[in-house]
Amino acid sequence: MGGEICACVICAKSGLQQTRRRAMSGRPVPLGMLAGIYFGDLAANLAAASVAPKVVISSNSVLRRALASAKFVRDLTKSDFSNMPSDFQTPAASPTLWALDPQITHLNHGAFGACPRAILDFQRDIRLRLESEPTRFLVRELEPLLDAARTELARFVGAPMENLVMVQNATVGVNAVLRSLRFEPGDEILVTDHEYNATRNVINYVAERTGARVVVASIPFPLQREDIIVEAILAAVTPKTKIVVVDHVTSQTGLIFPVARLASELATRGIDLLIDGAHAPGMLALDVQALGAAYYTGNCHKWLFAPKGAAFLYVRPDRQEFIRPAVISHGANSARKDRSRFQIEFGWVGTGDPSAWLAVPEAIRFMEKLLPGGWSEIRERNHALVLAGRDMLCRALGCEPPCPDELLGSLASLPLPPAPRRYEAPLFLDPLQDALLFEHNIEVPIIPWPSWPGRILRISAQVYNCLPQYAELAAKLPADWS
Ligand SMILES: Cc1ncc(COP(=O)(O)O)c(C=O)c1O
Repeated sequence: MGGEICACVICAKSGLQQTRRRAMSGRPVPLGMLAGIYFGDLAANLAAASVAPKVVISSNSVLRRALASAKFVRDLTKSDFSNMPSDFQTPAASPTLWALDPQITHLNHGAFGACPRAILDFQRDIRLRLESEPTRFLVRELEPLLDAARTELARFVGAPMENLVMVQNATVGVNAVLRSLRFEPGDEILVTDHEYNATRNVINYVAERTGARVVVASIPFPLQREDIIVEAILAAVTPKTKIVVVDHVTSQTGLIFPVARLASELATRGIDLLIDGAHAPGMLALDVQALGAAYYTGNCHKWLFAPKGAAFLYVRPDRQEFIRPAVISHGANSARKDRSRFQIEFGWVGTGDPSAWLAVPEAIRFMEKLLPGGWSEIRERNHALVLAGRDMLCRALGCEPPCPDELLGSLASLPLPPAPRRYEAPLFLDPLQDALLFEHNIEVPIIPWPSWPGRILRISAQVYNCLPQYAELAAKLPADWS
């Protein structure tokens, strides 16, 4: 069995394993499949795999020459790695703790999260318990179990549990708030041009039905300063502004918006704020109540590692009587007086699977124990890793970092050259996103920005990622963008 290796640039264990698997299965290992920097263990590993590579390049000068002439690799050299903390060379936690496909370099935690196997097991046990006696579970046991889960989640995100209810996802949270509020013709709903498409659609829907007007504050990206965000939003406020809707972490551009500043500036103008925190729980240290916003919704199934379908909605007590779930159910005419109507209505929106909600505390505990420094270490490492990955990609793309480091959490976006042609596929994926996945096994989103054919590349950093994976991505970006 022999692999055909023309230029080797490896250090990622995942890349190495992938290469090894490919070589061992008798498939050639083509130039361009490998990325990273070879620090010396390749030969030993290939030998262990009984592979006789044609060429193994080990000296830096040969490596540089090979890199310079390689089709996909441009200016990555060992110096790209030399300043990195050594722990970035491998994941902080074993990727096998997740069910993620080991063949895929997964740089898209932001899209849908990834739930650890242990939490999925925990969820399966909840489901089995439910199905062993559905009536007992759903009628008698669920509410106290949900209360306990809400209590732990509320503690984690900094809110009294009475003011926080479970919803399926941030989209449901945003719908509940915006579709509950009353708007008069001429009222203004203020949003930014970084708003997530689904949330923007809810806003448009509500505006169309009520005669309200959608006002869009434009925020440039690349962005130099945080102040620009606040200034742009406040400049768009008028006496007719009824509510401002902003993302805590913007979806396409990955920017952390200064929501506490915005909440307090808007409060002095008597305007409510709805924060779409789809990405925030787990990525950022949260103190939701202290933000002072009227409404906050956040996902637990992204950066908090809960199973899919776990999210929360926080509503400040003085606004709770106005906010109803998007789905009206038994709670609407409940005679119960032991808890608020807000909690009663959101506590039951019809028969469903509550296991994702009930697994949230387990996800919080599991991840707290994963690294010695708990959640703070996860957040800090992810932030540092995403910056390191972003800087590496900036060098490969020949661009400057598009925003200050402190405006990022664990997502980072980079402008790309415009799309060469309109994509015909029924879904929204960019041809480059397809090429990276189908030709190079890299899952990373390429998103139209600000609109097609403009586009950005967004990377995520999570504890199962490591720096060589971003090098691999940099190496696979096209050398010729025309
Ligand atoms: C800012 C923002 N809001 C809302 C959502 C929707 O999240 P979900 O699909 O979990 O409702 C996302 C998803 O990425 C998002 O980035």
